[in-house]
Amino acid sequence: MSINIMPFPPLKNDRLLKAARGEEVDEVPVWVMRQAGRYLPEFQEVRAKHDFFEVCRTPELACEVTLQPLRRFEHLDASIIFSDILVIPQAIGMTVEMHPGKGPVFPNPLEKPEDIDTLDFNDPVGRLKYVGNAITLTRHSIAGKVPLIGFTGAPWTLMGYMIEGGGSKTMEKSKKWIENHLVETKRLLGLLTDVIVDYLIMQVEAGAQLLQIFESSAEHLSPEQFVTISMPYLRQIPERVRDGLQKKSIPTVPMTIFAKGAGHSLNLQAKMGYDVIGIDWTVDPVKARQDVGPNITLQGNLDPQDLYKPQDEIRQMTIDMARKFGKHRYIANLGHGITPATPIDSMHTFTEAIHSAF
Ligand code: CP3
Repeated sequence: MSINIMPFPPLKNDRLLKAARGEEVDEVPVWVMRQAGRYLPEFQEVRAKHDFFEVCRTPELACEVTLQPLRRFEHLDASIIFSDILVIPQAIGMTVEMHPGKGPVFPNPLEKPEDIDTLDFNDPVGRLKYVGNAITLTRHSIAGKVPLIGFTGAPWTLMGYMIEGGGSKTMEKSKKWIENHLVETKRLLGLLTDVIVDYLIMQVEAGAQLLQIFESSAEHLSPEQFVTISMPYLRQIPERVRDGLQKKSIPTVPMTIFAKGAGHSLNLQAKMGYDVIGIDWTVDPVKARQDVGPNITLQGNLDPQDLYKPQDEIRQMTIDMARKFGKHRYIANLGHGITPATPIDSMHTFTEAIHSAF
């Protein structure tokens, strides 16, 4: 693929970036986690012909799938590059397969601390260049309609998948590592943090305009473990990314942390250096604002299951939610990813309701 080195088209809708920076907005910006995905028939059509990671690795396909929700939902104020958090474990040498109906599978997960030394930490971001190429192509193709979000998994969430070998209800094996191999656990979390920082810098160089860090498995940590296992690494990321960008004379971008299930520690999350804190649907918006104070943007948090309700109920719940958050320093989203059987009408209703809430 040849990379277009022309300057990117000017941004026409900057509500997302304004809200992230704490500036006034005309309307509350709205996007949805997993907005490009299985609930869209046009996505299913692409997936029928191509393996999941083939879509991630082929900039033209990743770009097409990223743009699909924008064509359907005129109220969307952002796009998120089509990829997956598990491309990092792949880039450090692990095999990851995506099994339809089952999710990700690692045929050879990490079993013991010595397995860390089988991982290849020599230039993994070089092997992730295809994500940068997808971002650059997509930035040009969006033509400035809305900003493009880049993302990564956070260290603890990635480590969990690498040890469990896929999704897990209990995280039994990873939690045993914390219990029995704390030094090696922290070594692995540190190595992953180094990759994540370089990976995010590369995404901004390629054209990402906001970065979201997914700590989806924070829900498996106690509040005490969140402080010792997740936060020390999460808090390094914004500072190190900003430093790295500054060294390359690249302007910084806003950063969002979404630590699912860590609503117990929003006051601590507010001190980690992020511009935006994503909250899941278990947290009350008014309580969240009290916990984080006035200088952080909140993102969230309708329960994805609410999108199965009748359309008039969805509309009212969405407006009520938005008004609880308030218009200032707020980005509307769901409290986790949209689920595959969600009716398409519900996405229309949700995004339209946000723009009519104030
Ligand atoms: O949001 C978007 O539209 C961008 C694309 C995106 C995907 N995954 C595509 C995807 C993003 C941001 C992710 C992040 C991701 N991936 C997370 C963090 C967010 C979260 O949901 O907590 C996690 C934990 C993963 C790992 C992962 N990938 C799992 C557990 C699964 C299977 C379960 C599921 O929800 O689908 C995936 C598969 C996946 N990633 C799909 C998509 C569209 C569906 C796979 C398919 O098409 O077969």
